[in-house]
Amino acid sequence: MNRRKFIVKSSTALTATVLTTGSLSSASLIGSQKKQRVALVGTGVRGSSMYGRDMLKNYGDYVELVGLCDINPGRLKVASEYIGANCPIFTNLDELIKKQKPETLIVTTTDAAHHEVIIKGLESGCNIITEKPLTIDEVKAQAILDAERKSGKRVIVTFNYRYPPYRAQIKQLLMEGIVGDIQAVEFNYYLSHDHLVQYMQRWHGITHKGGSLWVHKSTHHFDMVNWYINSEPEQVFAYASLERFGKKGPYRGKNCRNCEHTATCPYYWDINKDERLKKLYADNEHHDGYIRDNCVFREDIDIYDKHAAMVKYANGVQLSYVLTGSSDKEGYYMAFDGTKGRLEVRVGGHPSKDYNELIFIPEPKYTDRKEEIIRADHKPGSHWGGDPIMMDKLFKHPEAPDPLGQQAGVRDGVMSILIGIAARKSIKSGMPINIKDLTDLVPKAVRS
Ligand SMILES: NC(=O)c1ccc[n+]([C@@H]2O[C@H](COP(=O)([O-])OP(=O)(O)OC[C@H]3O[C@@H](n4cnc5c(N)ncnc54)[C@H](O)[C@@H]3O)[C@@H](O)[C@H]2O)c1
Repeated sequence: MNRRKFIVKSSTALTATVLTTGSLSSASLIGSQKKQRVALVGTGVRGSSMYGRDMLKNYGDYVELVGLCDINPGRLKVASEYIGANCPIFTNLDELIKKQKPETLIVTTTDAAHHEVIIKGLESGCNIITEKPLTIDEVKAQAILDAERKSGKRVIVTFNYRYPPYRAQIKQLLMEGIVGDIQAVEFNYYLSHDHLVQYMQRWHGITHKGGSLWVHKSTHHFDMVNWYINSEPEQVFAYASLERFGKKGPYRGKNCRNCEHTATCPYYWDINKDERLKKLYADNEHHDGYIRDNCVFREDIDIYDKHAAMVKYANGVQLSYVLTGSSDKEGYYMAFDGTKGRLEVRVGGHPSKDYNELIFIPEPKYTDRKEEIIRADHKPGSHWGGDPIMMDKLFKHPEAPDPLGQQAGVRDGVMSILIGIAARKSIKSGMPINIKDLTDLVPKAVRS
């Protein structure tokens, strides 16, 4: 068997082993194990779909949904119908916890509210499964760390970016030492322009609501790097600017639906043409003033649309990172430089394929391995087949082995947001920011 075939085969075999082990153990548990009592907090589009409807449909044998909570009573009711939930609904979390006694809270609120829900859940004896980002600033991050330590309960952060099988294959190749000791990483992430626009339309455009894209979006990317190189960040220096949106725009209106510029604005969008979004958001904005189709040129947008950062890791690795959104390409370019060569990954753009090609370029003085293209297949299911694997681990076989360390805990959640938080501070001060000055966590050279 040649080397390339071995690599592809061995990683497939590993995934198969994990999946098989998981389904065998879970099959033997059905009927003998109590269902996990979970409550969902935050019933917007993410909560009601992935952790509402899909979870009930695919994991109903393992999970009992005992309560739904949202501060917007209208959205809560619409979401409950959409989910097909047969459980009580609450606009007050204390009441839900008291009456329904969930074992686990799933947190899918807006980012700025995550810490309140997580801390209340931990203090009430619940385990937490939270969407990324863990939270939006270092003070809230420290409060979550303290609450978890005190509670003896566990916070899991759902970094679904770690689970696509082709990314697991990259992790495995790096663990096998394909590039030797990693010395530097390049990571350029391209949001499609439409995707960037959606952020500008929503609460994500305001730093105190979403932490800016440095936190809301880049938490995924920084976590991926932390996980791949198995180290923690030590120092960050960054630049960013807002070039197209907010105050930079030529005109502005109240929101898209009521705007006098609909005929000329390239970003005009009618939310009422999307039945699901209309019912969840537009029909319920009178309850709390949550507007889903804000003007992308509104004055209070204070996030950036162009980002660049340098990160020095505790193991000496240097990351250079870019986040932009100026074309219709959604994807990324990533490369790992090591003592034995370089591994390059290019994802997205046109045309889309059902696999990725990983390119290995050797340094012949230090390895016998030849230049090669390694095929990394996608699997069925959203996010290239990653979401079903993550959901299985969360709900179907939580005790299954995790050989690649894909499930993320609170420390991973904090370390990934601290890079973005440090980037924000670096932009304001013009200085490099030390991660150890932000919370009581001291960066480790080796994560695990
Ligand atoms: N992993 C991913 O790829 C991914 C994708 C999309 C969204 N997300 C995350 O999921 C979360 C939800 O995203 P969304 O797009 O559904 O947002 P959303 O704004 O549509 O929904 C959030 C809901 O939380 C409710 N809420 C706010 N504060 C609350 C509180 N204190 N208690 C209860 N409910 C509260 C709001 O009323 C709203 O209904 C966000 O944290 C987001 O970052 C992750």
